[in-house]
Amino acid sequence: MSVMIPDLENYFRGFVPPRDALLLELEEEAARESIPIVGPVVGELLYILGRISGAKNILELGTASGYSAIYLARALPPGGKVVTLELSEDMAQRAKANFARAGLADLVEVRLGQALDLMAAMTESFFDLIFLDIDKESYLPALAHCRRLLRAGGLLIADNVAFAGADPFNQEIFSQEGWRVVHLLSFLPHHSPEQDGLCLALRAD
Ligand SMILES: C[S@@+](CC[C@H](N)C(=O)[O-])C[C@H]1O[C@@H](n2cnc3c(N)ncnc32)[C@H](O)[C@@H]1O
Repeated sequence: MSVMIPDLENYFRGFVPPRDALLLELEEEAARESIPIVGPVVGELLYILGRISGAKNILELGTASGYSAIYLARALPPGGKVVTLELSEDMAQRAKANFARAGLADLVEVRLGQALDLMAAMTESFFDLIFLDIDKESYLPALAHCRRLLRAGGLLIADNVAFAGADPFNQEIFSQEGWRVVHLLSFLPHHSPEQDGLCLALRAD
């Protein structure tokens, strides 16, 4: 008979990936100031997916203090770049300072503004990977832009898809032609919140 490990959440807290001093400091700051960063499990997942996909051009929607973009930028191959979009001027400035501290200033471009407007001004199917982490009501309107800006075979990763505001996005991407999609209900220590959904979608054509 198969027996499950008891107290699974506590058990899986023992497998949170290690982080350097800067990422730990950003986690402490996020906890203090209620900045909803992805935390070390999704951060490591972003790094792994970035590395195995060889993504050279990455677009992030929702920079905050730069925590997730640091994981993405560290996964870049030589010559790669992360473009990250942020509405808050204060957050954008803080993120730039953190990219400089991480030695990543040359690899990450922060664009200030409403992500939907900034994406509307972009034209090419240019990105290998897009990470979606803005206000959840913007997920559905962002989807058409993501589809247009992601190259065929590119990967869309959406955080927080267990939020009610993400439901229209979940329904649409699940039923739309041209995506291979998986929704994961996950236990994510240090993520905000710790139980949440992730959506991974391959632009199939
Ligand atoms: C969940 S936080 C991003 C966390 C970040 N990805 C991380 O894990 O380190 C969302 C950020 O997106 C910004 N934001 C929310 N809605 C936005 C929008 N429509 N356009 C641009 N930025 C937005 C917020 O100001 C906030 O800093």
